[in-house]
Amino acid sequence: MSTFRAPKGTFDLIPPDSAAFLRVREVMAQTVRLAGYQYVETPAFEDTTLFKRGVGESTDIVNKEMYTFTTQGGDSVTLRPEGTASVLRAVLQANLEKAGQLPVKLYYSGSYYRYERPQKGRYRHFSQVGAEALGAQDPQLDAELIILAVDAYRALGLKNVRLLLNTLGDATCRPVYRAALQDYLRALDLDEATRARIELNPLRVLDDKRAEVQAQLTDAPRIVDYLCEDCKAYHDEVRGLLTAAGVAFTDDPKLVRGLDYYTRTTFEFVHDGLGSQSAVGGGGRYDGLSELLGGPSLPSVGWALGVDRTVLAMEAEGVLERDVPRVDVFAVPLNDEARTLFFGVITELRRRGVSADTVFGGRGLKGAMKAADRSGARYALVAGERDLAENVVQLKDLASGEQSPVAVDQIIPTIKEKLS
Ligand code: HAM
Repeated sequence: MSTFRAPKGTFDLIPPDSAAFLRVREVMAQTVRLAGYQYVETPAFEDTTLFKRGVGESTDIVNKEMYTFTTQGGDSVTLRPEGTASVLRAVLQANLEKAGQLPVKLYYSGSYYRYERPQKGRYRHFSQVGAEALGAQDPQLDAELIILAVDAYRALGLKNVRLLLNTLGDATCRPVYRAALQDYLRALDLDEATRARIELNPLRVLDDKRAEVQAQLTDAPRIVDYLCEDCKAYHDEVRGLLTAAGVAFTDDPKLVRGLDYYTRTTFEFVHDGLGSQSAVGGGGRYDGLSELLGGPSLPSVGWALGVDRTVLAMEAEGVLERDVPRVDVFAVPLNDEARTLFFGVITELRRRGVSADTVFGGRGLKGAMKAADRSGARYALVAGERDLAENVVQLKDLASGEQSPVAVDQIIPTIKEKLS
């Protein structure tokens, strides 16, 4: 056995579980494709400054969790810790915002990297499916994205995903709230690191998990009481649209996201079966990010769903399908003549869209039948000398055990019909 191991905080996706991951990604992607979101793919690494500026210098992600290295050419690059900054960079680079109708609706699916302390549900290499709608400020767009995420979780069979909703105000009202919050926090009994955070990013203090800190925050000023008229009306409309769509949510005035770019609508999807890493997805509006990256005004909204945690949530709810069949048909030849025949048959089946496999490397009958069972196939094709002398093969239903002869020239149509 090799002594090499996957790096700490990472894991390999291998069968049979890999099929479930693939399906989760596909269901999420299919859900947003239904709303016209198109696929975008950006490099796994970017100029370090993009994330520093985009995600925010005061965030844990930028301060503690980035995989940053200097290339042979002397450039500082960082493995992407999230997708939004990269997608916006790509849109601006290609001038997509000028090319057609706004919003530009994009989705992505891929690997992200954060140097976090590994634990269940928190990995250094993880997988997200994300969707971003760039270039429109419209409560319907915020609601659309939230509803799509809810629909994706539902399509995966999840029943216990909860939606937490908040707004963070905008450039008009947030500074007023921030100052009021800072005044309140400065008067509390807090450790040095938290005091420093009050000056840098006071909203993050609201997110402190420690009970002794939370106990002091019960009377902290709430953003809802500081919203300007526009932000308040916008938020009320988002809430109304969600309610009309039958989407339940909890207003969470303390919901603070771990990225600095958010304005107005912010939300998180949580699942109570996961322990401390309960967020299965999150997102919000980021109306000022484009300007921060040197682009034009491009108010936008988006989310990213965590694939790994969604799989854990499905496991917790008992809706994760594990034994996904590898193929529909498995051929078991009992002699060389049958091997030759079946090789042609499975080739033709695949060309007609039927998944099929056989044994390789000259295994005996027992090993071949075991392989057929393991493949999860619905049907096995079995043939030996006696069958071929009569120009038939045996078609075996692997669930019922029933077996019947089929004429060699009828194999393909018979299987097609049985599977349809
Ligand atoms: P985020 O909340 O940092 O948002 O990540 C979204 C989801 O990715 C989380 O809810 C979680 O399920 C998953 N995730 C994050 N870190 C890890 C980890 N270390 N291990 C496993 N899963 C993890 C964003 O990334 C924003 N870019 C979302 C967004 C898009 N906002 C606007 N547009």
